[in-house]
Amino acid sequence: MKKILKILGIGIAAILGLIAIFLLYIGLTDIPSYKVEQIDFHAKSTPQALERGKKLTMMLCANCHMNSETRKLTGKRMLDAPPEFGKIYSQNITQDKEYGIGNWTDGEIVYLLRTGIKKNGQYSPPYMAKLPKMADEDINAIIAFLRSDDPMVVSSAIPDTPTKPSFLTKLLCRVAFKPFSMPNKTIEMPDPNNDIELGKYLAHNLDCFSCHSADFKTNNYMDPSLSEGYFGGGNKPLNEEGRVMLTQNLTPDKETGIGTWTKEDFINTVKYGIKKGENAMRYPMAPYTQLTDKEAGAIFEYLQTIPAISNKVERSFYN
Ligand code: HEC
Ligand code: HEC
Repeated sequence: MKKILKILGIGIAAILGLIAIFLLYIGLTDIPSYKVEQIDFHAKSTPQALERGKKLTMMLCANCHMNSETRKLTGKRMLDAPPEFGKIYSQNITQDKEYGIGNWTDGEIVYLLRTGIKKNGQYSPPYMAKLPKMADEDINAIIAFLRSDDPMVVSSAIPDTPTKPSFLTKLLCRVAFKPFSMPNKTIEMPDPNNDIELGKYLAHNLDCFSCHSADFKTNNYMDPSLSEGYFGGGNKPLNEEGRVMLTQNLTPDKETGIGTWTKEDFINTVKYGIKKGENAMRYPMAPYTQLTDKEAGAIFEYLQTIPAISNKVERSFYN
């Protein structure tokens, strides 16, 4: 009997020892790196691509990379990233060769945007956006814009502040967060004459679903409609003071969602932050002024077709 207990004791001690070594290892090493696939891609710059690219960059990248002092995409401290992820800084993505992405190839940028793997192979955790399902044409437009002579992206020699990921982030990057795989075929643009298809594309690729479903942790980025509580609201993004800003239910439920809204109400809220009889929308609900009425209206049309979820979410207010 004693012998068995002794063996058991040694076994438990060994397991605890292994766990301790594992935790120490995670703490001392960096976020994991992956092989960088060489992508043969050269952005095609046309006036249409530049215009579209600017619009997408304003809606999808500027909120995190725009520095209010330089008025360029030189990066900043991300005060709205959950503090348990560490001290997060977005990086300089102007064309500066030393601090920006002037020495990245177009292929390296595509690879990062699709998979989350940076030029140096390191995985970029979920505090950096990824675009695994965006149409090739739109990805081309964003990269063409990043290479353009727009004042937002011209070379600006502002040094990066490296992100200091927490232990939790490093651990999650070993066990939960994984890069997406590179699409193996062309992703086509939605049919612009089909409002529901266009609206679905925008609702997914402008990340509306990621904030407006139940929780970032249970979102499905490869097939957004499989996210838990898809568009039922209740997710908890943070504002710039690091406080929770609950997201609303955008399903067609008549009591708790937007089932009784008109298309016009919706366009006003999404594009200008105006809500009838209520206070204006606040950060992080960006006013999407770059969307055309047709695009914002198409999102509305699409949202009216998804399953209604009954989930009442109050707005968050702080004094
Ligand atoms: C939610 C905030 C957020 C959004 C949105 C975002 N980024 Fe980032 N980005 C970051 C953070 C934070 C980092 C630093 C990541 C790290 O340390 O691994 C980063 C890193 C990068 C890098 C790597 C730079 C380097 O020098 O390592 C590139 C390139 C980049 N982002 C481009 C973009 C583009 C293009 C978009 C729009 C399609 C975009 N990002 C949207 C937060 C964001
Ligand atoms: C970064 C997270 C985030 C993203 C991305 C986001 N939203 Fe929001 N949204 C919010 C938050 C938070 C609120 C509540 C704001 C408030 O209470 O002031 C909100 C509110 C709204 C409302 C008002 C709903 C109501 O019942 O009051 C609408 C409509 C809306 N968002 C639509 C959209 C659409 C469409 C998109 C994509 C184009 C989008 N949101 C993307 C966070 C987000």
